[in-house]
Amino acid sequence: MTIDFNTLWTTHLRQHAYPRLDPAIDRAFWEGYALEYDRQAGSAARCLASVSRLLHPDDTLLDIGAGTGRFALPLARQARMVTALDHSPAMLAILDQQAKRQGVTNIRLLQADWPHVTVEPHDVTLAAWSLYRQLDLAKALQRMVQATRRLLIIIDSVASDPPHRPLIERYCGSWHETQWPNHLVMAGVLWQQGLLAEVQIVDETCTVAGPSPEAVAQQLVGIDTPRRIVAALAYELRPWLMRQGEHWVYSFSQPVGMVIWQAKTD
Ligand SMILES: C[S@@+](CC[C@H](N)C(=O)[O-])C[C@H]1O[C@@H](n2cnc3c(N)ncnc32)[C@H](O)[C@@H]1O
Repeated sequence: MTIDFNTLWTTHLRQHAYPRLDPAIDRAFWEGYALEYDRQAGSAARCLASVSRLLHPDDTLLDIGAGTGRFALPLARQARMVTALDHSPAMLAILDQQAKRQGVTNIRLLQADWPHVTVEPHDVTLAAWSLYRQLDLAKALQRMVQATRRLLIIIDSVASDPPHRPLIERYCGSWHETQWPNHLVMAGVLWQQGLLAEVQIVDETCTVAGPSPEAVAQQLVGIDTPRRIVAALAYELRPWLMRQGEHWVYSFSQPVGMVIWQAKTD
């Protein structure tokens, strides 16, 4: 039997009837969540360090789904020029503010819905947790390859099993995060295009912080979770929480997949 990775991915997205496949719905989601995302997303320090090791000072970088600039902003200090592409004006507005505040001037913002845009080739192309709406992943990746002169880097989830998962399952009935090794599907789709990518696992440290244990627990569940469940979860989380000044902090390690494809240079 031949596995068609692209069909596998499309079927998976359709089966989960993911509403944010619709660009307008996804943009509306980020409109309401951009500030919170920027506050909560954490630095992804180890993934950032891995990308940063691959970047040359003279490189141009295309960051697809750049969001509020978690990668684009620090990497702009290392690269010659960064194009931060995102379809959400709300996310780009925060990126823009932060670039100005930090005095970063070599970032160009590009509001566009990948892959429905033409972008000139860049030395390095990056997509970090931003391919979740690509029904036709093969096309999205093919366009990324076309936009890449030297290196294509994809960062995405590995089926996740953090320490708090049994608590969420007990209190909320199910585990909401992906059970799919997205990174392997991405590498598989590239492989079916005749492109051999390297797959790495980065052991990332995730941190969730808030002014109270309940605020930390709230960030681990959906916003419509009843308060009594959030309170019970907060109580169970206490042994793992650390006090840092005014904040309660929960840290856990999370494997993250990195797919790296290098263009052939003659
Ligand atoms: C989970 S955030 C990740 C942001 C950033 N890469 C990071 O790691 O913090 C996903 C981002 O991808 C953007 N996005 C999703 N699909 C997109 C598409 N087809 N074209 C452009 N941006 C997209 C969203 O607007 C959002 O800003």
